[in-house]
Amino acid sequence: MDSDLLQRLRLGGAVPRHVAIIMDGNGRWAQRRGLPRYEGHRRGMSAVREAVEGSVEAGVGILTLFAFSTQNWDRPPTEIGALMSLLRAYAQKEKRSLAAQGVEVQVLGDLDRLDDGTKSAIESIVRGTAGGQSLRLNLMISYSGRDELIRAARLLASRTLSGELTPDEIGAAEVEECLYTRGLPDPDLLVRTSGEQRLSNFLLWQLAYTEIHTSPVLWPEFTRDDLYRAILDFQSRERRFGRVSV
Ligand code: IPE
Ligand code: IPE
Ligand code: MG
Repeated sequence: MDSDLLQRLRLGGAVPRHVAIIMDGNGRWAQRRGLPRYEGHRRGMSAVREAVEGSVEAGVGILTLFAFSTQNWDRPPTEIGALMSLLRAYAQKEKRSLAAQGVEVQVLGDLDRLDDGTKSAIESIVRGTAGGQSLRLNLMISYSGRDELIRAARLLASRTLSGELTPDEIGAAEVEECLYTRGLPDPDLLVRTSGEQRLSNFLLWQLAYTEIHTSPVLWPEFTRDDLYRAILDFQSRERRFGRVSV
């Protein structure tokens, strides 16, 4: 049976087309239980399943998950190793069920920094889920918003040097063409768990007019009901985009 929250959000108005989540609090969840940090990351995988299935149920079209930032490369090598091994396990274990649910996976970020095993697991999940129609799932790995903008600036500079574009022709559409999220609408809703209220270098361009919902829940405990609560909160907002109320 559908949860009450899901029924309420179905009556509550428009569901966000694109939801982005900063999945935070794995380490604290583990530390509070006297467990190593990687146990928190391991438990966080079931929360990813909840967020994906909840998005499909609610009718969200695009879910973008911040899974590993460029700055996270500065964590201890053992923690990075555990995260990469979870990513490979996720790609191997979930590929078939994601494809069966119609989830199309893309992995976005500076993937050159990943080891070969992780790269091939990623290629396999991307290939195995291509064409899914119910949800587009973006896993942001080795990603930083500033690096994404630097990369876009470099691409635009080389197009300008080659004579493809003049500087005056560079506008928002041309910048967006050079982002990892090319072709996708900006997130309508950003959720950050664990009570933190910062962007931590996530989607700096794309979040310009995104509604922000912070949840006190630590990521390993996040359930689809928490996603529905975030969507209900979103439905209560008035988005003005700089204009006045009508
Ligand atoms: C989020 O949990 C997962 C990653 C950043 C990879 P954290 O590992 O940041 O957990 P906290 O914030 O230390 O509790
Ligand atoms: C942001 O969380 C990155 C991811 C969720 C992958 P962090 O835990 O790395 O960010 P800070 O250090 O709290 O800003
Ligand atoms: Mg954190």
